[in-house]
Amino acid sequence: MFELSSESVEEVKKQMARFETIESAIIPSLYAVQKQNQGWINDEAIEALSKVMQIPSSRINEVFKFYTMFNQKKVGKYHVQLCGTLSCHINGAPDISDFLCQNLDIGLDEVTADGKFSISRVECLGSCGTGPMMQVNETYYESLTPELALSILKGLP
Ligand code: FES
Repeated sequence: MFELSSESVEEVKKQMARFETIESAIIPSLYAVQKQNQGWINDEAIEALSKVMQIPSSRINEVFKFYTMFNQKKVGKYHVQLCGTLSCHINGAPDISDFLCQNLDIGLDEVTADGKFSISRVECLGSCGTGPMMQVNETYYESLTPELALSILKGLP
């Protein structure tokens, strides 16, 4: 059974105190839960958050399931989000996606056997002029080629 850590509870309460409505604190609270749970959120975590925030889990789920920055499945230590929207797509994002999946021996939304990497295709990440691009955890990498993207991942500790 998932329980929010004391650090997560403290963060959620801090966020709830910041806003006029409790619902406004859902996004930063989901970040706290995701951080505690190794990068993803499941139903048990939503229920635990619902109890702390004292709002229905359905309200939290509406937000959770809308935004791609919240992961609904287990992710790797390094979660690679490849932009697949128009500007990145026409500049080679599909080739990067295929190349990384082939070299890491996983499909999209899967985790490598060692738990180090996962890859997802996401919508525009706001770096359209320097696509194709990917986000790895909190870091953006731009103007990618398949080889450059792979070498970046291989260089991560
Ligand atoms: S289209 Fe890829 S960042 Fe906008």
